[in-house]
Amino acid sequence: MKRREFIEKAGVIGTGIGLAPKMALNSSKSVLNVGFIGCGLRGQGHISLVLQRDDCRIVSLADPDPIMMERTQKLISTKLDYIPKTYSSGERDYIKMLDREDLDLVIIATPWRWHTEMAVACLERSIYTGLEVSGGISIDECWQTVRAEQASDKHLYFLENVCFRRDVMAVLNMVRQGLFGELMHLECGYQHDLRNVKFNNGKQPYGGGVEFGENGFSEARWRTVHSVNRNGDLYPTHGIGPVAQYININKGNRFLYLTSVASKSRGLHNYILDHEKGGPDHPNAQIEFKLGDKITTMITCANGETVVLHHDTNLPRPYSLGFRVQGTRGLWMDVNKSVYVEGRSDSHRWESQAAYMEEYDHMLWRRYEDSAKGAGHGGMDYFLLNSLIEHAKINARPPFDAIDAATWKAITPLSEASVASEGSPQEFPDFSEGQWKSSKNDFAYGSEY
Ligand SMILES: NC(=O)c1ccc[n+]([C@@H]2O[C@H](COP(=O)([O-])OP(=O)(O)OC[C@H]3O[C@@H](n4cnc5c(N)ncnc54)[C@H](O)[C@@H]3O)[C@@H](O)[C@H]2O)c1
Repeated sequence: MKRREFIEKAGVIGTGIGLAPKMALNSSKSVLNVGFIGCGLRGQGHISLVLQRDDCRIVSLADPDPIMMERTQKLISTKLDYIPKTYSSGERDYIKMLDREDLDLVIIATPWRWHTEMAVACLERSIYTGLEVSGGISIDECWQTVRAEQASDKHLYFLENVCFRRDVMAVLNMVRQGLFGELMHLECGYQHDLRNVKFNNGKQPYGGGVEFGENGFSEARWRTVHSVNRNGDLYPTHGIGPVAQYININKGNRFLYLTSVASKSRGLHNYILDHEKGGPDHPNAQIEFKLGDKITTMITCANGETVVLHHDTNLPRPYSLGFRVQGTRGLWMDVNKSVYVEGRSDSHRWESQAAYMEEYDHMLWRRYEDSAKGAGHGGMDYFLLNSLIEHAKINARPPFDAIDAATWKAITPLSEASVASEGSPQEFPDFSEGQWKSSKNDFAYGSEY
């Protein structure tokens, strides 16, 4: 779809949630001034993709960590013949950056506790905002982002890259073409052994040790402490983002309530005990981690579907987001990479997903496969960033906005409350305030972004 068609289509479809008033067509830009808040490993990933584009100018960087800033400057110096302005004098120097620089787009890739404050600050200053993923800290925080986006003349794009994963998009095609019939049940999650990421004193991106906090590097500096103090699904969006596209959450459907249970906690403690740099006498061996090794959450939807969400980051296991998309005519499961379609598959037999993935490959992937080569997470980061930038240029409502961010992030505080109350059901706030009934899902209908 060409940009003009996209604008026309978006103008029609987007009337549900605040697109029309923000479509200032005369302010569309062909080159964006981009700033970054947070230049850690994820921020550097985004920067390296932006550096490959001629429609972005990296104006400024904010990050108080001298090591990360140095790494970023080194990365940038290989590509740019100018030096972006840096803001590294403390945790709120980013505010100075927002006030002083002429920024069209800011990408936020910081520790979770900063996300809301930073997104609100950008939106208040009329800056299109790309916000990295996280679980929410509180329901109140989720509302703050929604309110800030409503009050702003710019949008918030929630940077959920897994929605662009090739198989996930092919399955979106399958769902939209009715291959699985009417959807009934979905599963997903974040199942990723992060033990050596959460303990990293090796000063390497994923070196692994037994230190965290001030002694750690990258996510070990801040992520591990969430596992010390919190018990719930801490990272729901990689799973729930794609699922939300399959069943049109906030666009004709919505999450009603969830219940969560947590297993006991052993993985992180045992990792410290067994590690060559740890052992029973290491101070971190005394820590009692609150986070259950396996959190299981069940969600009920307004249109009658159920969703099971897994959070599993502290036990030995290969990576899998554990998708299952099941309807009245069949299902896909990504754990066994298989499909079953009644009337097409041999009765009671799984079929390899390979032929389906080819047949239903999304037009975006067919078109931009070469451009995406080498981009992070199997290429999907290319599609995410491209979509962000193209939406920012015309100030269009993104496919995943502040209402989606709030809804997906709310799973974390709701699941913590449920775990803390013996699995009692927790209602989702309706962050769309009723607009979910008339809104339509416009994610990935076009072939441009
Ligand atoms: N979508 C994905 O695939 C993916 C992958 C990795 C990380 N992430 C997300 O990206 C975010 C960042 O993760 P990361 O792995 O880059 O962590 P990181 O620790 O490597 O980077 C975070 C950076 O933020 C900086 N920072 C902290 N406080 C700041 C402040 N007040 N102002 C400016 N900068 C500040 C830190 O110094 C650090 O450089 C998290 O939300 C994480 O969940 C997403």
